[in-house]
Amino acid sequence: MKTGTLIKSDGVRLRAFRIRDYKEVLRLWKRTEGVGLNESDTRSAIATFLRRNPRMSFVALKHGKIVGAVLCGHDGRRGYLHHLAVARRYRKQGIARQLVAACLAQLKEVDIHKCSIFVYANNVAGMSYWKHNGWKLRDELRIMQFIPAVADAAVFCRTC
Ligand SMILES: CC(C)(COP(=O)(O)OP(=O)(O)OC[C@H]1O[C@@H](n2cnc3c(N)ncnc32)[C@H](O)[C@@H]1OP(=O)(O)O)[C@@H](O)C(=O)NCCC(=O)NCCS
Repeated sequence: MKTGTLIKSDGVRLRAFRIRDYKEVLRLWKRTEGVGLNESDTRSAIATFLRRNPRMSFVALKHGKIVGAVLCGHDGRRGYLHHLAVARRYRKQGIARQLVAACLAQLKEVDIHKCSIFVYANNVAGMSYWKHNGWKLRDELRIMQFIPAVADAAVFCRTC
């Protein structure tokens, strides 16, 4: 998909997520079950993400209002989607399908052919969505995470 291309279907327009959309998208994410927000979701963190992954993340608009959003990025090896959300009253109209397809098309453009998502284990409906749409659960994997700031603080406390 070319930069700035709009997809039109049933009055829904898709376009690249711009930082000026932040407030409206944050409101959508806050209302959406299964979307967990943290320090990576501040305005400046999202601005950094969008700059690092230009034209990969999308919003869906109906009558000029944002009704869906997704973040997409890659690390040069794998693509990742975050915070796919569609406002309740606009669900089951194919909006998420269009958002995800737009992201996967952009990943393909940069030769990234595998994409992963993080889903809370208790997000049964979310898991069901991905499975229904052909995404495979990698149940042989677990996510592990290291937070240097926390570790540094622990070292500092041990030595102070
Ligand atoms: C999951 C979510 C994004 C789906 O949005 P949506 O716009 O309703 O999805 P679509 O209309 O594009 O659905 C595409 C297909 O998935 C199916 N589908 C939608 N929600 C589904 C669900 N919860 N379980 C199984 N299938 C589902 C649709 O029926 C459609 O199937 P079809 O192609 O066979 O007709 C939306 O329900 C949502 O925002 N949920 C809360 C946030 C969340 O859990 N996000 C994902 C986890 S990170």
